[in-house]
Amino acid sequence: MARDQSTLEEALRAVRDPELDLGVGDVGMLRAVTLRRHRANVSLAVPTANWPSLDELERRLTEAGCSVPGVEEVSVEVSLMEEPARAALRARLRQEMAGAGEPDGGAAGDHDPVHDDPGHDDHGHGHGQGGASVPRFLQPGSSTRVIGVSSGKGGVGKSSVTVNLAISLATLGHRVGLLDADVYGFSVPAMMGASHDPVVLGDLVVPTATHGVRLLSMGFFVPDDQPVIWRGPMLHKAIEQFLGDAYWGSPDYLLVDMPPGTGDVTLSLAQVMPRAEIVVVTTPQPAARRVAQRSAFAARKLKLSVRGVIENMSWFTGDDGTRYELFGSGGGQAVADDLGVPLLGRVPLVPALREGGDVGRPVVVSEPDGEAALAFRALADRLVALGPSRVYRRELTLR
Ligand SMILES: Nc1ncnc2c1ncn2[C@@H]1O[C@H](COP(=O)(O)OP(=O)(O)OP(=O)(O)O)[C@@H](O)[C@H]1O
Ligand SMILES: [Mg+2]
Repeated sequence: MARDQSTLEEALRAVRDPELDLGVGDVGMLRAVTLRRHRANVSLAVPTANWPSLDELERRLTEAGCSVPGVEEVSVEVSLMEEPARAALRARLRQEMAGAGEPDGGAAGDHDPVHDDPGHDDHGHGHGQGGASVPRFLQPGSSTRVIGVSSGKGGVGKSSVTVNLAISLATLGHRVGLLDADVYGFSVPAMMGASHDPVVLGDLVVPTATHGVRLLSMGFFVPDDQPVIWRGPMLHKAIEQFLGDAYWGSPDYLLVDMPPGTGDVTLSLAQVMPRAEIVVVTTPQPAARRVAQRSAFAARKLKLSVRGVIENMSWFTGDDGTRYELFGSGGGQAVADDLGVPLLGRVPLVPALREGGDVGRPVVVSEPDGEAALAFRALADRLVALGPSRVYRRELTLR
């Protein structure tokens, strides 16, 4: 019996909370486990009263419990964490954000010029408690790739591409975060069909887990019908907090839906995320070329590395299988050639993509074998194969 108990406890401790993506044993949520006959009684403490994805967590606990020989039933009793446990959880998350225990250990032995800058004292550690500190994953040497999705003008499908690309990367098994930095025109929570707001744990925000992606957006923090009329400094602070006071874990990819064009937000992002790579979304018509170029030039002025171009709305496939190039052709390749970067992919015009965006069911989820999903998967593969940019370091060395 004793052996069963410890096997059971071990199996349950390892179950990951969907929102935190950490083991419930590790974050103090698993309180007690008793085994009576074939029934496991699990006492679970949740950090907040409205803790999201509790059904899914219970399902995972049941599955893990029932996988232990002799256990046929799992009953979960939920209580609210007391403040000391909550504080310990916050400290645990902050510690992870600061880099302790980060699995990739990317900085070890990896010389980086920024560490020699007397203005920085990070030495691979974070900046302590409270306030928006620079999380480990944004610091030099981290293996996280931050990819800003940008466009010269609105309406070219930047958010749609960001959302579907993020989910495709997650489906390939990567840890993915999505920051909707289009603070004025946020649309990502609705497009993703986010079922709940991010959880606020004291001075920490836990991004909303949706379709395997961690998501944060200004849209979660302002009422639906209210415009965001913040000026530069406030926006800068907000962006800093979105990155420094949010528990992103250790993402492999952080995609950023950039506001169209250039402006305060782009400047702030470049400052807070100097390692960001940029991909430019454009449409096929030749007239879009100059506009798309402009956003790339702006990015380069900010010393961000432009990695490639994505052409959206490239063709429409009719019922008879004929491809119609409704918006012309060659625009994406032309922009890519102008910029000296690759065309990373072309995404077709698909009614289900728009419909999915409107009802919060991204097309890669609703039609995973459709032509849009295939295009996004190819795009994700291409981005992964491209590997991280090295340009940033060269520029720093030269400075
Ligand atoms: N490949 C596509 N097929 C069909 N509809 C698309 C496609 N790409 C985008 N759309 C639709 O076009 C509209 C604009 O797309 P989206 O909101 O993604 O663009 P955006 O560049 O982020 O715009 P904004 O500047 O307003 O943020 C949306 O209704 C979206 O569903
Ligand atoms: Mg958008």
